[in-house]
Amino acid sequence: MKDLWQFFKQEKKWYILIVSMLVFVDGAQVTIPILTKKAVDAIGVQADISLVVKYGLYVLAVAVFITIIRYIYNYILRKLVLKLDYSLKTSLFNKYLILPKSYFEREEIGDLMARVTNDTRAIRFFLIMGFLGGIDVLLLGVTTFIMMFMMSPMLAVIVSIPLVLLIPLALNFGRKIHVYFKNVQRIFGEITVRVREVISGIRVIKAFTREEFYLKLFKNVNEEYIRENMKLVKLDGFLDPVIDFLIHISLFLLVLCGGNFIIKGRISMGTLVAFIQYIEILAWPMMAIGFTISLFQRARASMERIQNVLQTVPEVRDIEPIHIEHIERNVSIKNLSFSYPDDDHFVLKNISLSMHDGELIGITGPTGGGKSTLMSLLLRVYNPSTDTIFFGETDILKIPLQALRKNVGYVPQAPFLFGDTLLENIKIGKQDATIEDVEEAAKIASIYEDIMKLPNRFDTVVGEKGITLSGGERQRVAVARAILTKRPLMLFDDPLSAVDTDTEKTIIRNLRAYLATNHITTLLVSQRVSALTVMDRVVVLSHGKILEEGTPDKLFDEKGYYFHLYRKQLLEGMGA
Ligand SMILES: Nc1ncnc2c1ncn2[C@@H]1O[C@H](COP(=O)(O)OP(=O)(O)OP(=O)(O)O)[C@@H](O)[C@H]1O
Ligand SMILES: [Mg+2]
Repeated sequence: MKDLWQFFKQEKKWYILIVSMLVFVDGAQVTIPILTKKAVDAIGVQADISLVVKYGLYVLAVAVFITIIRYIYNYILRKLVLKLDYSLKTSLFNKYLILPKSYFEREEIGDLMARVTNDTRAIRFFLIMGFLGGIDVLLLGVTTFIMMFMMSPMLAVIVSIPLVLLIPLALNFGRKIHVYFKNVQRIFGEITVRVREVISGIRVIKAFTREEFYLKLFKNVNEEYIRENMKLVKLDGFLDPVIDFLIHISLFLLVLCGGNFIIKGRISMGTLVAFIQYIEILAWPMMAIGFTISLFQRARASMERIQNVLQTVPEVRDIEPIHIEHIERNVSIKNLSFSYPDDDHFVLKNISLSMHDGELIGITGPTGGGKSTLMSLLLRVYNPSTDTIFFGETDILKIPLQALRKNVGYVPQAPFLFGDTLLENIKIGKQDATIEDVEEAAKIASIYEDIMKLPNRFDTVVGEKGITLSGGERQRVAVARAILTKRPLMLFDDPLSAVDTDTEKTIIRNLRAYLATNHITTLLVSQRVSALTVMDRVVVLSHGKILEEGTPDKLFDEKGYYFHLYRKQLLEGMGA
């Protein structure tokens, strides 16, 4: 709840304002029974109609006052709560942007989404209805009691007894609600997880007719959601009638003892009427106590879920970053071994490799050999051990993350396009690029012609709300995107696996020329010999180890993995 408290402190003056408004409103509210008492006594004792009218008008005036203040108060309160909601959501969103990839591999994405939507709602709800409702309750409860006490101390104490019984009851309920609600929110997260999974995997589900299976899975969590919610319902549902009952006990005691007091002449008729009104006024705060406790516990559970995210310290972060102007273009990897977090199996074993300024290195090898992992480490998606990867003389761990990522271009194995125009998708890494730059990049990636054939050319929207590109087209857009950035180090993770061999040859030729003129050091993963033969050097990575390394000609002569790949693809190319 510390963050909430921080927020209250920031908005202190507004909270003071609305709390003082509440004091006024509640103060005005408790004067109504006094006016009624006077009016009733004016009827019974003085029989003076002008006095009755006078008190009646007072009541009206107080009512108008209360309405106006309540409106302003509601307005300010809701605005404050929206502001808090905004800042909570933004903090979460920002944190999601900061947290490393490994975090999202551990956590369920749907559950992380639920925290932004569902948990912030619980907090919002509590703050509007609960928190200030609670203050309202306290103020109204205390002032009402004081007023009653001033009119008749004895009667005030008698009618308050049932209400005091409520406190331990409500506290006990609160504890249970907290536990149940945390479960409910967790299961809600699971529901979101299921929905997300089905929507993103809909093609596979349809292709394998797994609809029934997923429906059953969904029904299961949904039923669990109802079961857990029912536990809450039982508690919440029980509290309200009990409170109602206690209020009626209060009224019963009032009629019994109050009536007795009137007969004995200890209080006036007006006082009895005023007491009835006070108990009515108290009914709302009493109801609200249960409600407030329930909302508070829900908000607390949600806040804990949000805090869990906000307090996560990212594994990949700047520890002692040094200031650097330019990143060196020669990269060396020394005795690099790596295993993924929470996994003791080594994916890379003692890799050493140096890349010179402007060199183009091809990486190949059997699937699962560690090629993509090596690229993740050069991007510091995961932390390599110290003294294993250097840019020039500088350990990668000392380079500020922002600077590193601004200097390393990357085309992932499965490129992602945003639901935006092609132009925006290509410009992602270089917002200030001119249309000519974009066109040139598209030409190098051999996607220019295809884009010009589209109805809106570069302004064509792709993704969910636009056209769907083929796998090969998407890859070429991703290549154009990387080319545009002209980063000193470029990593291409099998960027043209879905492109036909002829087009691939053209692109590799273009790419070669482009990389050479810009002195870009490049690592390019490929399974195709046609691409590998034009590299400066080729590295074969298999089971986490470098199997072969050297110029394509040298590897050919060595008659190893590369040679066999060459022969096989050559034969395939000849139609054998
Ligand atoms: N995030 C991860 N967590 C744990 N293990 C992983 C993770 N990513 C990959 N691996 C494992 O690391 C090994 C190397 O994977 P990697 O993706 O680097 O291979 P690759 O050479 O790129 O394969 P491919 O040619 O199929 O793309 C594999 O055994 C894989 O299961
Ligand atoms: Mg890979």
